[in-house]
Amino acid sequence: MTTPWKVLSYARGYLTSALFFSRPAIMCQVGRLRVIRKNADIEIDSRTTVWPDVKLSCVGSDERTACLRIGKRCSIGDRTEIHCGNRISIGDDVVIAWDCTILDRDYHSADGEGEKIAPVEIGNRVWIGCHAVILKGVTIGEGSVVAAGSVVTRDVPPHSLVAGNPASVKRTVAGWRPVSDSKAAECANKSWNHR
Ligand SMILES: CC(C)(COP(=O)(O)OP(=O)(O)OC[C@H]1O[C@@H](n2cnc3c(N)ncnc32)[C@H](O)[C@@H]1OP(=O)(O)O)[C@@H](O)C(=O)NCCC(=O)NCCS
Repeated sequence: MTTPWKVLSYARGYLTSALFFSRPAIMCQVGRLRVIRKNADIEIDSRTTVWPDVKLSCVGSDERTACLRIGKRCSIGDRTEIHCGNRISIGDDVVIAWDCTILDRDYHSADGEGEKIAPVEIGNRVWIGCHAVILKGVTIGEGSVVAAGSVVTRDVPPHSLVAGNPASVKRTVAGWRPVSDSKAAECANKSWNHR
C-alpha cells in the first residue's frame, strides 16, 4: 500500500473505531467495514489491519454483553466475518486470511431449542488460512496454523497445524513467519499498491 493510502486507511480506521467500537483504535481500515453492535463491546488494539468487506457482528442481549477483542498487529482478510454473541478473543499478531468465518454462536438450534453459544479464543501468532471456519467453544493455541478450508470444531493445541473438516492435527509447527517482503506477498498486495 502506498503511503497516502495508508494514511487514509488509518484515518478511516480511527474514525470507524471512534464511532462504532468501545474505544478509538489506531487501526488500518482498507475499504468497507460492516459493524453490527448491540449490547456489546468491541475493542481492537493498535496497528491491526482490516481488509475490504469484513463484517463484525457483535450482538449481546439484555442479560449478557457480547465482547469482541482483537489484539495488536493482526490482519483480517477480505470478506471475513466474525459473529460474536458472547466472547471472542483474538490475540496479537494473528493473521486471518480472506473469506474466513469465526462464530461463537449458531443463531439456530439443531434440536429446535435455545441457541448454543460458547466463547472462542484464538492465541497469539495464529495463522488462519483462507475459507476456514472456526466454530463456537473453540480455543486455538498460540502459534498454530489452520489450513485453508478447515472447519475447526474442537480445541487446537499450541504450535499445531490443523486441516480438514472436521479439522484434525496433522503435525506440529515450530512457528510460522510472515513473508511480507517476498514476491508472493508483493503479488497479493499488487492491487492495493497500484492505487
Ligand atoms: C497451512 C498450509 C500452509 C500448510 O502447508 P504445508 O506445510 O505444505 O502442509 P503439509 O504438507 O505439511 O500438510 C500436512 C498434512 O495436512 C494436509 N493438508 C494441508 N493442507 C490441507 C488443507 N487445506 N485441507 C486438508 N488437508 C490439508 C496435507 O495433505 C498433509 O496430509 P498428510 O500428512 O496426510 O499427507 C497449507 O496447507 C495451506 O492451507 N495453505 C493456504 C494458506 C492460505 O490460506 N494463505 C492465505 C494468505 S494468509
